[in-house]
Amino acid sequence: MASAEELRQGAWFRNAVFYEIPVRSFYDSNGDGIGDLGGVTQKLDYLSELGVRAIWLLPFYRSAWRDEGYDITDHYSIDPTLGTLDDLDRLVTDAHAHGIRVLGDFVSNHVSIDHPWFQAARKDRGSPHRNWFLWSDTGKEFSRTRIIFRDLERSNWTWDETAGQYYFHRFYATQPDLNYDEPAVRAEMTKIARFWLGHGLDGFRCDAVPYLFKREGTRCQSLPEVHQFFQELRSILDAEFPGTVLVAEANQSVPETVPYFGNGREFPIVMHFPLMPNLYLALGEEDPRRIRHVLQATLPAPHGCGWAYFLRNHDEVSLEQVSDDEREMFLWIYGRYPRTVLNGGIRRRLAPMLDGNDATIAMMHALLLSLPGAPFLYYGDEIGMGDRLDLSDRDGVRTPMQWTSEENAGFSALPVDRLVRPPVTDPNYGPAARNVAEERSRLGSLYHQIQQLIAIRSANVEEFGSERLAAADAHATSVLAFWRDQPSARVLCLFNFSRATVTGTVSIDPELRSAPVLIAGDGTIERQESNLMYTLGGRRYAWVRFVRPVPPLGTPAAAPPESSPSR
Ligand code: NOJ
Ligand code: CA
Repeated sequence: MASAEELRQGAWFRNAVFYEIPVRSFYDSNGDGIGDLGGVTQKLDYLSELGVRAIWLLPFYRSAWRDEGYDITDHYSIDPTLGTLDDLDRLVTDAHAHGIRVLGDFVSNHVSIDHPWFQAARKDRGSPHRNWFLWSDTGKEFSRTRIIFRDLERSNWTWDETAGQYYFHRFYATQPDLNYDEPAVRAEMTKIARFWLGHGLDGFRCDAVPYLFKREGTRCQSLPEVHQFFQELRSILDAEFPGTVLVAEANQSVPETVPYFGNGREFPIVMHFPLMPNLYLALGEEDPRRIRHVLQATLPAPHGCGWAYFLRNHDEVSLEQVSDDEREMFLWIYGRYPRTVLNGGIRRRLAPMLDGNDATIAMMHALLLSLPGAPFLYYGDEIGMGDRLDLSDRDGVRTPMQWTSEENAGFSALPVDRLVRPPVTDPNYGPAARNVAEERSRLGSLYHQIQQLIAIRSANVEEFGSERLAAADAHATSVLAFWRDQPSARVLCLFNFSRATVTGTVSIDPELRSAPVLIAGDGTIERQESNLMYTLGGRRYAWVRFVRPVPPLGTPAAAPPESSPSR
């Protein structure tokens, strides 16, 4: 069993699979219809069996629950519907005993309109909290700031009768932004981070990081002050809680996202928003060229850092980082149903976007799991859960986890009509069709395919945990190929984005004298001198491992060949 201190050491995250959990939707341990911290604790065996090494919990703090906990009313307590501080302590201790780290969500840009800070501020211009928020008499400042919830809010300013002024909010009007030019706000947020790390959390996924500071005449995102704040926070946390992991949610373009690593001084992990929509577009086009381009522009991450890759999360599929033409193509391929589009993105889960095709879902996970950095799985994607377009906002992708085939999905002791959210009803994706119990008991199920992939990745940790990725030419337009390597071995990863079977060749470094071994996926491979001939079925993948010759005793290990992009 690893101690908490051991767990904190090193850039462990490049070898870890992360799993995102909306606590309210995962498992209800006390029979009130709402998923809770005790429910996550009870499912640690499941997560560990899947191969998960870190969990990211959506906000569990006291909240007004108008935005899935991202509207906090007290940063220092657990929401009573989710449990107690003791429950969190137990979850962290048990998770560490399972070799699983626990990340919270650091919501620093805004608070709930019901938070006592805002209540005090709005009622009294002389309140010490007045300057914790941004006020205006006209609501015209920062006019270059784009509206993120553009289908739900018409302005970033809302008039407050009690305050007699407008207040600024980057998200819902029920989430007033904090004023980071106020030193007390910066100090308070640092104190909040310390508080939860003191309770044993291993780090945070940091919400909405680009937006903390506002400056007239700018787009009010990714300003130098933002980087300065997080670099200061990082150095404080590194000194007091060494190895704390901070994951940046910075949904920006490549040039605006890369700086969040701060050359190794800011976020150890940055979510790869620019890559995500390109994964889906490449499938639609049956051409992975765009993936290669994004990887070339973003790899390697600075030393000691890593990208976080994801296919889906608890929000809509964001299309903010693609061109208008690409968005149109995306919506045409994946957004044809009414009520699918939200804020310019798509509020669907992975499985229905991929027509419930397990082979394609597995291939997308294989790709996720073979990139250099940290793969983030979204709860339920490992069993191909679906969504509910009849639920409002993004609730349709946050339905109860499907543990069994029962009508209430085995999520709670309560009947289906008393759950926090109704489970999926679509017969192709609901509990009867897709659930943990059935998929665990059936070899070859999507669950088993993904579990196997994780196990194989973990067993070849030297190759997959390295920062090196070298593009390869697969001599077929629909096939993405790259090498992941270490001095002792190389793994060739091949993904066929076409629906049709493809045959091709990849040239092999003659120094690799071993026979190729298919360690995951399917298809056929055959080595002919310095070429690997392969045949891959439609939307299939292969991981092929070569062992390097062991140098005679006493000779220094050969350095890995120079290749790009790599480090
Ligand atoms: C990003 C989160 O992922 C989303 O769910 C939330 O609504 C906004 N930030 C506001 O906190
Ligand atoms: Ca409960």
